[in-house]
Amino acid sequence: MIGSSWVYAIDENKLQENINMVFPKGLPVLLIKKAGEIYAISNKCAHMACTLAGGTLKDYTIKCPCHDWKFDIRTGEFQDAREIRIPVYEWKLSDGRIFIKIEEGKK
Ligand code: FES
Repeated sequence: MIGSSWVYAIDENKLQENINMVFPKGLPVLLIKKAGEIYAISNKCAHMACTLAGGTLKDYTIKCPCHDWKFDIRTGEFQDAREIRIPVYEWKLSDGRIFIKIEEGKK
């Protein structure tokens, strides 16, 4: 079935500065808290699906630990070829809890 739903990810007060791994409905998502903002992107590299959480974050760029591909955490774009991107997710805060919008039928 195609549709979307808001899935609980983490309590806001558990969120650390920079990289947080969450698994709403089993989906690997990174919540990145930076300068008072929160960004939600896939935790799976677009190259060979390495876990981006082990990478390094510099400004708004996360570098994959496997082969150094770099992605913009605001858009999910691969820096060397902007047509390649990892998913970014909408998120919302409700009663101190962070929810992520998951599209059903899509990973
Ligand atoms: S798997 Fe991320 S750069 Fe290769």
